[in-house]
Amino acid sequence: MVTQTPTDPADTPIGPTTLAELKELAGRYPQARSALLPMLHLVQSVQGRVTTEGIETCARILDLTEAEVSAVATFYTMYKRRPMGTHHVGVCTNTLCAVMGGDEIFERLCGHLDVGNDETTADGAITLERVECNAACDFAPVVMVNWEFFDQQTPESAIDLVERLRAGERVASPRGAQITSWREAERVLAGFEDGRVDEGPAAGEASLAGLRIAQERGWQAPSLEEDSGTGRGGETKQEAAAEADTQRAESETVAEQSPADVEGGADDD
Ligand code: FES
Repeated sequence: MVTQTPTDPADTPIGPTTLAELKELAGRYPQARSALLPMLHLVQSVQGRVTTEGIETCARILDLTEAEVSAVATFYTMYKRRPMGTHHVGVCTNTLCAVMGGDEIFERLCGHLDVGNDETTADGAITLERVECNAACDFAPVVMVNWEFFDQQTPESAIDLVERLRAGERVASPRGAQITSWREAERVLAGFEDGRVDEGPAAGEASLAGLRIAQERGWQAPSLEEDSGTGRGGETKQEAAAEADTQRAESETVAEQSPADVEGGADDD
């Protein structure tokens, strides 16, 4: 087991192209600081983690303090301060997945890969991590590779999965795109599409079963006009939808800003 990948991410400095892309992200938002989350994903895609250089660069572009950027980078578990392997393998060990076999999958992978939680294999191929519920409980137990789902796994299927990744074989998610690498997935999360968004099936049988039952029985979600509990009785459907969009955007902005706003809320390492 090692906690460093063979390639030191410091070997990949933030060059002019990345700097331009970071500034482009900052320009996509009415308030530039809203771009911090995708900017940190872009740093990870280039450097394999959130480096000190990445923190300093984001802070400079967004006119934030390094402490504010660091607070965000250490608050969310998708941001990594240690070098990552080629692939991130997340085993859901939250309640439902755990009782359906997630704990056993995680323990077997630890033994097979000779790593512990949040550690990288000696060949730099796999970083293994326990992850929380990924809202795929109807497919429990779930394993994720670079945030693509692999449903209803067993210890044996999970070991086969990591061996195929290590061998560089073509691996595709049963509900998503072909697996590339963690860094490439991070670039997509930063907001730079790779053209794979519609690749592969978008939904699995467990999810579609609910839709099928609803259609068979004629069940429909109530319209906004029928929903008398919202207090929107005088609005048109379009006005209510626009208001809901605005409220969601505002709440997301508050959620993005809150960790950096909490002075001393997280430690840099
Ligand atoms: S508990 Fe594993 S996806 Fe929800």
